[in-house]
Amino acid sequence: MSAVLVLNGPNLNLLGRREPSIYGRSTLADIETMCVAEGERLGLAVACRQSNDEAELVSWVQEVPGRFAGLVLNAGAYSHTSIALLDAARLLSEPLIEVHLSNIYQRETFRQRSYVSSAATGVLCGFGASGYIMALQAMAAILADADSG
Ligand code: DQA
Repeated sequence: MSAVLVLNGPNLNLLGRREPSIYGRSTLADIETMCVAEGERLGLAVACRQSNDEAELVSWVQEVPGRFAGLVLNAGAYSHTSIALLDAARLLSEPLIEVHLSNIYQRETFRQRSYVSSAATGVLCGFGASGYIMALQAMAAILADADSG
């Protein structure tokens, strides 16, 4: 069974009560429970982590090789600011799927650019909590393709 890391960045621990009109009513615990259940359905062992700390996120991205077959990443505001996270992401040969709950392209100009995107295999934004499920489905398809190729 392939292991996949679902990594959430700053302020995403407050989901559910953080601007619900933008980010929805699901809590991070709800999303993580959904991700683990979807992983079981897809044959992926999903591990979930969240940090508000850029350095900790960078260290966790660095842990992916050898431990995880792929990474689902919502780096929150660090998506728009962190060259350190981009550099860590660029070192991965494993698939990286970037997720944002909101459609960042409909929002403030500063959110419309994600450094992480240039290192991502694919990006999902604007689908709320379902985006994580879609990301895991895409991950399963990418990993199955890689296995059969
Ligand atoms: C976010 C979008 C970011 O701009 C914001 O800073 C977040 C959440 C999203 O999931 O829509 O923290 O990544």
